[in-house]
Amino acid sequence: MSQQASAGDVIRALELQPHVEGGYFRRTFQADQRATLETAGGPRYLMTSIYYLLTEQSPVGQFHFNQSDILHFFHLGDPVEYSLIFADGSLQTLIMGSDILAGQQLQLHVPGGIWKASRLLDGPDGFGLISEAVSPGFDFADMQIGDRRKLIAQYPQHQAVIEQLTRADG
Ligand code: GUN
Repeated sequence: MSQQASAGDVIRALELQPHVEGGYFRRTFQADQRATLETAGGPRYLMTSIYYLLTEQSPVGQFHFNQSDILHFFHLGDPVEYSLIFADGSLQTLIMGSDILAGQQLQLHVPGGIWKASRLLDGPDGFGLISEAVSPGFDFADMQIGDRRKLIAQYPQHQAVIEQLTRADG
């Protein structure tokens, strides 16, 4: 970048808003020039897309569940750790970031029907910026924020990570 951007600079430049999961976002695309898709939850855009930003002030995208497949693309800043809990109870942890030689991922596919959380890792920038392309398109009716007690009851073997990546009151 032309100068050392702060998290606030990125929020202003991309006109991001706080997201209910934590972090900041803005929808950049919805396929409204095409017919919608019929899903079990009703009609959805074929695809939607957002910018998503984590910052030192809002470093966690707490556990949530989506019906749709989501492709994530890393853009800028410090690495972001993803924690995925699959329906069979297995936990997968991986890192999105630009250090591909260290195994960090520029792209990440998260299938629909699993629990996902993200966390900004320490680094010089104080923010991590990605994009998400969601298909069928995002709809709040397809998304569930994780309730800490219920998630721990369902996946007791992952209590520590669930406590780290959910809100105390939720
Ligand atoms: N997460 C992934 N896509 C979206 C979106 O379009 N809107 C919101 N609020 N959250 C999302």
